[in-house]
Amino acid sequence: MCGIIGYLGPRPAAAVVINGLRRLEYRGYDSAGLAILREGRILVQRAIGKLSNLEAKLQAEPDLLTASHTVGIGHTRWATHGGVTEHNAHPHLNDAGSVAVIHNGIVENFVELKAALEGEGVRFRSETDTEVIPHLVDLFMKDGMSFERAAFAAIGRLRGSNAVVMMCAEAPDTLIAARLGNAGGIVIGLGEGEHFVASDVPGILEYTRRVIFLDDGEVAVVRLDGLDVRRLDGTPVEKRAHIIPWDPVSAEKGEYRHFMQKEIFEQARAITDTLRGRVNFQTGAVHLEQLALDEANRPARIHTVACGSSFHAGLVGRFYIERIARVPVEVDYGSEYRYRDPLIAPDTVVLGITQSGETADTLAAMSAGRERGAPAWAIVNAVGAQAERLASGVIHMRAGPEIGVCSTKTFLTSIVDQYLLACALAQSAHTAEDEQSYALARALAHLPGLVSRMLDDDPIYQELANRFHNREHFLFLGRGVNYPIALEGALKLKEISYIHAEGYPAGEMKHGPIALIDEKMPVVCVAVRDNVYEKMISQIEQVKARGGTVIAVATEGDDFIRGKADYVIEVPPAEALLTPVLTAIPMQRLAYEMAVRLGCDVDQPRNLAKSVTVE
Ligand code: F6R
Repeated sequence: MCGIIGYLGPRPAAAVVINGLRRLEYRGYDSAGLAILREGRILVQRAIGKLSNLEAKLQAEPDLLTASHTVGIGHTRWATHGGVTEHNAHPHLNDAGSVAVIHNGIVENFVELKAALEGEGVRFRSETDTEVIPHLVDLFMKDGMSFERAAFAAIGRLRGSNAVVMMCAEAPDTLIAARLGNAGGIVIGLGEGEHFVASDVPGILEYTRRVIFLDDGEVAVVRLDGLDVRRLDGTPVEKRAHIIPWDPVSAEKGEYRHFMQKEIFEQARAITDTLRGRVNFQTGAVHLEQLALDEANRPARIHTVACGSSFHAGLVGRFYIERIARVPVEVDYGSEYRYRDPLIAPDTVVLGITQSGETADTLAAMSAGRERGAPAWAIVNAVGAQAERLASGVIHMRAGPEIGVCSTKTFLTSIVDQYLLACALAQSAHTAEDEQSYALARALAHLPGLVSRMLDDDPIYQELANRFHNREHFLFLGRGVNYPIALEGALKLKEISYIHAEGYPAGEMKHGPIALIDEKMPVVCVAVRDNVYEKMISQIEQVKARGGTVIAVATEGDDFIRGKADYVIEVPPAEALLTPVLTAIPMQRLAYEMAVRLGCDVDQPRNLAKSVTVE
């Protein structure tokens, strides 16, 4: 998770930046850097490893931490494009060193932008996607634009979900901060004659409690004498200042009412983080840093064990691993696996999926596999948890702390991690068929941007919650890779709103649940355009024929389904295997809005715990 800090004001900028980065240190990172404007020139320092390494370098510039330098930016990096090197650490600069940029996210079109810039004679010093940004600004400034206009023009060229902060030697009293999509937040702290910019509230809370949060597509031009927020097309935006309470837990909640809501909206960023450094978006090669995969230890089959939402994620992952890597997968509830006395053939790996890493049943299932001779792997969020200690190979979800009891960002990241695992497994087999895994891995570059679009304001959720929160029963239907999402939709609704809900494979509806359908039963149907789309349409017809109300989760622009369903929630078109990452989000948002209407304790639903350490 990258951390971003910027400062404009009379204090020693370097000290404020370092202090802010320290406050964000708990997020973890692999390198750090800062840029300070001193005597008309931008001075940059970068270091890999801990922040103390950067601080040690700054000691060589004794006045830097104490002198008032007005403007500075700093960054802690967690690698996405390019390895952990000093060259790849932020800030990145143009050739003349007059524009410095820090960034969080993935510039989806960086391959095209870089090629075009190289065509103009630009020399790149790093392997990062970020470096295209200062060069673009530079090019526009050479065309005669001011820094501000050039920044808007450059930001307008970026595709994907990104947070960007930049400064320029020629505009010593200006910082520009932009948020595109939801992969990285930008909060601006309002002080007296000074302003702060950060990726997260704790980075600046020490200085001010008055903040504004940038929304998707907004750019802040921060000056010593004021602040101006505009949309990318230049339209001014009126922003409301929030007052952040001092207590650190509430501060973490930022602008959100509940942790679950915050965690839903963090998902584009969580996915960016889980992809960091693991995919080369140019070639599609996948590398999992804590899972050695070669011909010798490539499993012949996988037994996935997990509970609750993690079990549903495992069901999605089965599609990935079987379809992409052609490795057979069985998926069991952690609480059931050991009671069926599983047959473990040679070369089987038991894969535990658990955000907490402490779920007793999942741990017991992993141990049962190990006792029968199968090595264990784990997909875990809580670093160092018990599941990780049982495992010989680990994939960290990197979702960041999930405080709401209901799994949201850990559900999505554990799905993405299985997609990475499937690609890595396919690539380790070195066969001709594995070519497709490289293309499938490249498709991941678009995922944070697509997820971000699912997090836009959409009145449909309010409308549905207002209309249906008093219903007693819901049915969720899905098919193929989206069948587990129907299960997840029902689980989310049950656990936080206490409304009874069933998730079902759509084709099975006629074998029983159809008897329940009447005008009082809303039916949520996941019906994106994929290989089971027509089958889903026929299920929708059957529900309608019995007087049920259909809420369809469908592909954007699908007018046909609008003629069939009562309500439509749209998801952008995407690689078919990745659609569960998108269709899961309406399930979360719907459940959240329902629970809020019903006055339920969203973050701590009754009888539930974040780690279930009893069997
Ligand atoms: C659902 C939920 C639970 C967990 C389950 C497993 O929102 O949070 O169903 O998914 O308790 O937890 P972990 O993943 O920690 O093993």
